[in-house]
Parts: sequence; structure tokens; C-alpha cells
Amino acid sequence: MTVKEFQRSVKEGIPVKLPAAKSFDPSLNHAPKRKDILSPEEKRLAVKNALRYFPKSFHKILSKEFASELKAYGRIYMHRFRPDYKIYARPIKDYPAQCTQAAAIMHMLSNNLDHAIAQHPHELITYGGNGAVFQNWAQYLLTMKYLSAMTTEQTLVMYSGHPLGLFPSHADAPRVVVTNGMMIPNYSKQDDWEKFNALGVTQYGQMTAGSFMYIGPQGIVHGTAITILNAGRKISKSNPDLAGKVFVSSGLGGMSGAQPKAAVIAGAIAVIAEINPKATHTRHSQGWVDEVFENLDKLIARIDKAKKNKEAVSLAYQGNIVDLWEKFAEKKVKVEIGSDQTSLHNPWAGGYYPAGFSYQASNKMMAEDPTRFKKEVYKSLVRQVRAINKMTAGGMYFFDYGNAFMLEASRAGADIMKDKTHFKYPSYVQDIMGPMCFDFGFGPFRWVCTSADPKDLATTDKIATKVLEGIYKTAPKEIRQQLSDNIRWIREAKKNKLVVGSQARILYADAEGRIKIAEAFNKAIKEKKISAPVVLGRDHHDVSGTDSPYRETSNIYDGSQFTADMAVQNFVGDGFRGATWISLHNGGGVGWGEVINGGFGMVLDGSKDSERRLRSMLFWDVNNGIARRSWARSKEAMFAIEREMKRSKDLKVTMPNIVDEKLLKNLF
Ligand SMILES: NC(=O)c1ccc[n+]([C@@H]2O[C@H](COP(=O)([O-])OP(=O)(O)OC[C@H]3O[C@@H](n4cnc5c(N)ncnc54)[C@H](O)[C@@H]3O)[C@@H](O)[C@H]2O)c1
Repeated sequence: MTVKEFQRSVKEGIPVKLPAAKSFDPSLNHAPKRKDILSPEEKRLAVKNALRYFPKSFHKILSKEFASELKAYGRIYMHRFRPDYKIYARPIKDYPAQCTQAAAIMHMLSNNLDHAIAQHPHELITYGGNGAVFQNWAQYLLTMKYLSAMTTEQTLVMYSGHPLGLFPSHADAPRVVVTNGMMIPNYSKQDDWEKFNALGVTQYGQMTAGSFMYIGPQGIVHGTAITILNAGRKISKSNPDLAGKVFVSSGLGGMSGAQPKAAVIAGAIAVIAEINPKATHTRHSQGWVDEVFENLDKLIARIDKAKKNKEAVSLAYQGNIVDLWEKFAEKKVKVEIGSDQTSLHNPWAGGYYPAGFSYQASNKMMAEDPTRFKKEVYKSLVRQVRAINKMTAGGMYFFDYGNAFMLEASRAGADIMKDKTHFKYPSYVQDIMGPMCFDFGFGPFRWVCTSADPKDLATTDKIATKVLEGIYKTAPKEIRQQLSDNIRWIREAKKNKLVVGSQARILYADAEGRIKIAEAFNKAIKEKKISAPVVLGRDHHDVSGTDSPYRETSNIYDGSQFTADMAVQNFVGDGFRGATWISLHNGGGVGWGEVINGGFGMVLDGSKDSERRLRSMLFWDVNNGIARRSWARSKEAMFAIEREMKRSKDLKVTMPNIVDEKLLKNLF
């Protein structure tokens, strides 16, 4: 299809003529059949809701088709309306648009649905099993059409994938405002998602899927490499080097697939179990996994060899993580660091596969006998924790990877509680990311070169390296380690071949780093050293974006970890400080109802307006979180915000007074 034809198709939106039906493509990774949760009356409502997108003349055919999709998949995806063109992050100039900002958003959105990127592309799921960009293809088509027509005096409003419409606004307003899964709090249980998503009125946007900010596994490789490096520092201050040390975990999916590559970058031996052969194959063929094993004895022999030779290597086990842990515990395999990255935020719909069943058999049971499936998942979790406990008794350091592993294991009745309220093991945020990164303001800043030209990305890498090296020279000792880890990362980023999809880069940076890097990019765009606009963004999994008591805010200890003011304040504050788009989600990462997260996207086009917006918005976006962490008495955050107040005279943050614990001891 030519660029012109592509543009025509985007501008058309929902086709005037009913397109031919599309067949199921077995070569792609598909979402599992969702739970059959609607009553017959609700099913009729779901079909009626879906038909709202189409003219009456289509209804006779589509009503039957949508009913059969609902029966076959548990959802109405409207497969017939998948576009005929290939969806990927095209150069920005190829998108039909009235303004640069809208074209940049189309570039980002398309990347989230690229077959090389998305986990279940035909079901519009980007990662995490249920992280949706849209609920159905009509929403995609309409959104692209609206974006192609949008001016800088309009804002597109999106309710859980549904484009409510273009509304008059102004040039400084966000071009798109996204909310995903915002529920009345009492209707935020897992089954509520199943029901209201099946009705077509809400979706699970995860963090970066429904906000068009997913950049493939690179985003997470960096965070994971930093986590594993710092875990190495945690287990041994005298010998933090990971050479010859083993890191064991599970999952080769969207985010979890970054583990083998990240562990190798950190210098360790990675051993990752994955039950889905397609997921294993994807990571192996990408070169992110070095070797695949189906036999645990052979795997153990290979680990021994890697230990002896101090190889940095990644080994996948094609099978269930429960079997691996049980075998390792039985054979007393020495593992230094352990974790888990099955998608336990989504345990009943494909996030966790019970032991003793093949991948296919589990998928069948999930749809046909959900009660038994739930029992089997819980049985497996009890076994998994038992084996992990044996390993930690033997000296392994285990941490929860923010996937609701401990939460779900506790619900399963596994031996995972230290006492009534505390888990046995820390989360990676409590021990590592919180105190070492987030409290100082370091988080997953990212950018995308919308030219889609690798040369532009190389230029931005060089600019960012120079900026960080400059900052390092006068940085206080508290943040030197962070800066040097990131300087190393960005220097080696190109060599590590991390780009899948759009020309994107991730880099952990604090407010100062983010602002200075963005300013330098904007200048380079103005001077035509970078050939097209650059989009700035971040994972919601950051200093500020996310309120999640078992993950991002698990190292908040004043009780406020169960509040969601920070995420909402981020979303709103970014909106009026110049973000190009903003998004607020219920349910990313650890599960529906368990987290609220907010994020943004910002287009830099080399203009004075971009410069003004980036300074104002990035400053707020990071410092909101640090101020909140400081109020929760984190000493690292108190240090960071006091330092910022000295630099920025308009910043006045309420500081906590610290109480002598002895005074409290006998009060009650
Ligand atoms: N990487 C990070 O930094 C990070 C941070 C926070 C949270 N998480 C969490 O990690 C989880 C994984 O994310 P994802 O995007 O990779 O999800 P995903 O669903 O794409 O991948 C999970 C993988 O685990 C596999 N799996 C499930 N049960 C298994 C079992 N018993 N044995 C072996 N393999 C099994 C699945 O087949 C799947 O491929 C999510 O809950 C996410 O929220 C990751």
C-alpha cells in the first residue's frame, strides 16, 4: 500500500463500505478466550454497544458477527475492521495531520500496535496480557481519523479507548486526554473488569499501553538492568560484581522478556522459565535469550559451567517456573538472586499458568472451567512459595517484582507472610528502586525520534551522554552512583541493540537531567541537527506517576501508600503545564483496583513554546513525587527536595518534622 493510500485510509476512519470479513491468523500470539461473564441480557447490551460505531445498514451482518466474537473470544474485537495497511511507527511526515502534535501521537500509538511490539496485536493488547490500547478496531479507526483532522485548537477526549470526540480547547492545552479504567471505587474488582470490558465500556490500559508510550522491551531492559545491578550491591557490599552469580525468574513476555538481556548487561547468569513456547521463541529469535532448555538436568549442568567460566549468559527453561524452583530446591542449586515475573496482576485470564498442565490445556481450562483453573493456580503458588522458601533458607535473596506475586500467593494461602500484615520478602521498590532511585527523583525518562531515523537516535544518545557527564562533575555523592550507571548505559545503548519498533531510548534521570536533556534536544531540533520532532515521556512506573501500595509506593510508610492523590495530581498538573497528552489509569501492573497511575507525552519541535513547556512540566512531573515521598519521611527524598528548594526559589515544599520514636513507644 502506498503512503497516499495509507493516508486516505486513515482519513476515512470507519469505512463507508463494509469491508470483507477477516480470518483468524494462527501465526500471531492471541489473547486467551476471556471469561464468559455476561448474562444473555448483558450480551445483547454488549452487541448493541458495539453496533453504535456503525451505520444501520451494517447492523444485520455485524450483529451476528459480533455475537459470535463474544461467544468465541469473550470480547468483541471487530476483527473485520482491522486495517489493511501495516501498523508501525512510520516517519512522522507519512501521517496525514493538521498539526505536528497529532502526527506525533499517531506515530506513538501505531508503535503500540506494531506486530513486532504488541503481545496480542489483533486483540489490541500491547503487554501484560490485558494492557489494551483500544477495546476494538472501530475505536482505533475513529481515533486515527480524529487525530488526522485535529488542529491545535482542539483536544481529543478518550474514555478507555473510546474517542468521545474532538472538543474546542487552545494551543497550550493537551491535544489528547486519556482515561482508562476509571471506575466508581466499589466496582473495581477483577470480575468488574471482565464484565465492563466485555460490555465494551472500559478497558485495562496498563501503564504505557493505553497511553501510547510503550517502546517495546527496551523500556524495561534498562529498569531491570538497574534493579539487578543494585540487587548485586544489596547482597554483597564487598563484592557487588555479578560475574558467576545466578539470577532466576520467570516470564519472557512483554516486560519480563527483558530479564535475560538485562541480567547479561548487568554481568550475571540469567535463568528464566517461560511456559508459552511462542514467547520463548520470540525472545530467542531476537537474541535476547542465548540458549533454550527443555530438560532441567541439562539446564543445571549448563548453569554449573557458566558459573565456573563466569559467563554472562541467558538461559531459558521452556516449562513451568514451579517445576524449575522445585528441582533447584531439591538439587540445592546455588542461586544468588531470585524473583518472579509471571503476570499475577492478571491471574485468571492468562497471567499465571498452573503447574502440571500444558500451555494449551491451561488455556482451555481457563475458559471452560474457571473455578478449577483458580484452584490449580492457587495450588501452584503454594508449591512455588514452598520451593522459594527452601532456596532463601539456603542463602538466596528473593524480591517481589511488582507483579502481585506475594499478594496473590498470600491469597492462595502460601507460606509467604512474615506476620499478619507483612510479607516475608521485600518488593524490588522497597529494597531497591524506591530508596536508590525514585526518592532521589531518578526514573524511566524516555524519548522517541519521530523521524524513525536511527541517525537521529544516535544524535540524541550523544547529546544525553554529554549532558549527564556535565551534571556528574558537580553532583553530590548521594546521586553519583545513579549518574554513573546511566552514563554507562547510554554510552553502550546503541551497541546493545535495544531498539524494537520506534527509534526510542530510555534513560533513568532526575528532574535536572530530564530538563537539561530535553532542552538540548529542543535546541538540536531547532538547529536541524535532529531532523524531526522528538516525543518525551516516561513509564508511569516512576518517581511520581503511580500510586501502588505493593509496588511503586511500597516504600511509603506513613499510611498514604493507599491513597492516589499523587497520580491524579501528576496527571492534572502535567495537563496545565504543557503536556501534549496526558493519561490516567486504574489498574496498571499489579491489577485492576490495586493502583492508579498517570503519565504524559510531550512533543518537542524546536520552538520557544516547547522550551517553556518542557521546563515547567518536567520540573513538576518529577518534584511532585519527591515532595510526596519527602512528606512520607523518606530521608533520601527530603535530601532531594531540600536541594531542589535551594536551586528553585519559587518552590516551597512542606517538610515533615521527625519525631523521636521513644516518645511514641508507650503512648498506647
Ligand atoms: N519488568 C519490570 O520492571 C516490572 C515492573 C513491575 C511489574 N512487572 C510485572 O511483571 C509481570 C509480567 O509482565 P509482562 O509484561 O512480561 O507480562 P506478560 O504477560 O507479557 O508475560 C508474563 C509471562 O509469564 C509467563 N508465565 C505465566 N505463568 C507462568 C508459569 N507458571 N511458568 C512460566 N511462565 C509463566 C506467560 O506465559 C507470559 O509470557 C506483570 O505483572 C507486570 O506488571 C514488571
